[in-house]
Amino acid sequence: MKVTVVGAGNVGATCANVIAHNDFAKEVILLDIKDGVAEGKALDIWETSPINYFSTKTIGVTNDYSRTADSDVVVITSGLPRKPGMSRDDLISTNAGIVKSVTQNVLEHSPDTILVIVSNPLDVMTYCAYLTAQIDPKRVFGMAGILDTARYRAFLADAIDCSPKDIQAVLMGGHGDTMVPLPRYTTVSGIPVTELIDEAKLDAIVDRTKSGGGEIVNLLGTSAWYAPGAAAAQMVETMVKDERRIFPCCAWLQGEYGLSDLYLGVPVKLGRNGIEEIIQLQLNDSEMAMLNQSAEHVREVMGILDKMELVS
Ligand code: NAI
Ligand code: 2OP
Repeated sequence: MKVTVVGAGNVGATCANVIAHNDFAKEVILLDIKDGVAEGKALDIWETSPINYFSTKTIGVTNDYSRTADSDVVVITSGLPRKPGMSRDDLISTNAGIVKSVTQNVLEHSPDTILVIVSNPLDVMTYCAYLTAQIDPKRVFGMAGILDTARYRAFLADAIDCSPKDIQAVLMGGHGDTMVPLPRYTTVSGIPVTELIDEAKLDAIVDRTKSGGGEIVNLLGTSAWYAPGAAAAQMVETMVKDERRIFPCCAWLQGEYGLSDLYLGVPVKLGRNGIEEIIQLQLNDSEMAMLNQSAEHVREVMGILDKMELVS
């Protein structure tokens, strides 16, 4: 299996490194527009192969899409990250043009590929890639839910003083402050989380999760990369291995949850063909209200992209 990662910045290089380290692909192509950056980082990753003990070949290229030909999965991380004081939505004008041109270039050489979008604002950049690609939306979707859920699970593990491995959770909605963590679907080794933590602490963790991206931006001056890169790599791994794992991903909705014609985070089953199934949970009224509010926000940002008339 061949995987391409576009954008050899913080997230893209981390994603390529995790994919190589986990040794499930034949090769990973890392592509960037900056001369030499992808080549240098891919070489550095390849030089860890005797230490980390993997065979996945890592190759860097500067804007040479011919080298990405026949990729099975392409992860798009190219674009500006946010700085302190910025929201993810502030990135739309620059990143939409980048995502559009990258999508066109990728599909020219890999018409059957699966596209995983990471660039922000995530839900709308995934929509931008879909409009550009004009392919089955089961092959175009975004990474955010695995990251947001990982943050929620990590914070819970700290509070409960247990291993994050044992925390299972679902988080839905857009990748922004309106995301919807779902305590009713959160368990610790099968035990409802509400039996292990009081309501006030759980509420505080839900709030911290919603602003988890901003917490890192404020510390670093740019956005996170270890968890985002690992999250995107996990999506690639489950598809390459056809594991059919269930993760929250940003998927094109056509009536699921009563919502249509937008990309939003929902639980999906991922396999060799991309999204094999969208899982429909029986949300209660308050959970549904939060999901609708999140969808409304994503639609507002979709409106900005539509007005740009960049893609149609
Ligand atoms: P970065 O600035 O470290 O890397 C971005 C890379 O994209 C740069 O190396 C740049 O040269 C490259 N690039 C720009 N235009 C390109 C083009 N046309 N073709 C190929 N490469 C191009 O940024 P970082 O931290 O890696 O973040 C990348 C994107 O991912 C940002 O938009 C960020 O907001 C987003 N992000 C999304 C997350 C999510 O959960 N979906 C989580 C973390 C970041
Ligand atoms: C994050 O959540 C900025 O989307 C990026 O870390």
